[in-house]
Amino acid sequence: MVLPILEYPDPRLKKVAARVTDFGPDVARLVRDMAETMYAAPGIGLAATQVDVHKRVIVIDISEARDDLRVFVNPEILSAEGEAECEEGCLSVPGYYDKVTRAAKVRVRAQDEHGRTFELDADGLLAVCIQHEMDHLVGKVFVDYLSPLKRARLATRMKKRQRMAG
Ligand code: NI
Repeated sequence: MVLPILEYPDPRLKKVAARVTDFGPDVARLVRDMAETMYAAPGIGLAATQVDVHKRVIVIDISEARDDLRVFVNPEILSAEGEAECEEGCLSVPGYYDKVTRAAKVRVRAQDEHGRTFELDADGLLAVCIQHEMDHLVGKVFVDYLSPLKRARLATRMKKRQRMAG
């Protein structure tokens, strides 16, 4: 099922997600719905926060063929190194892109939808995407890194857009 995506500056995007402790059918269903929502958008990553479910779950697919779904439940960054600036966008901030500086490489520990723990070394777009989606889980959107002036302009623009969408 494709779920509605919250749009900035919706205050629900600021909620902090809770750890998943029960790996039952609810998590499997959430992951399926989130993947479907991400592919339909289309986007390369989605955090549960963006569909108003406040659990630590993210899905990512940065592949060209859109056939390499990665699921991270309860993700943690074990180590980070370097710096990389990348132009980012977000399904919750449609039509807006801007540069953000993040760690160039990260080592992540997470669980899959069955609760199995894995570790992963990521760099490039995958590293950026993991950090971007993990920010959502603590109530942060990439535009929070922008200057207050840019953010104020963006908030006005988003409100106008949401009024027009009715
Ligand atoms: Ni996002």
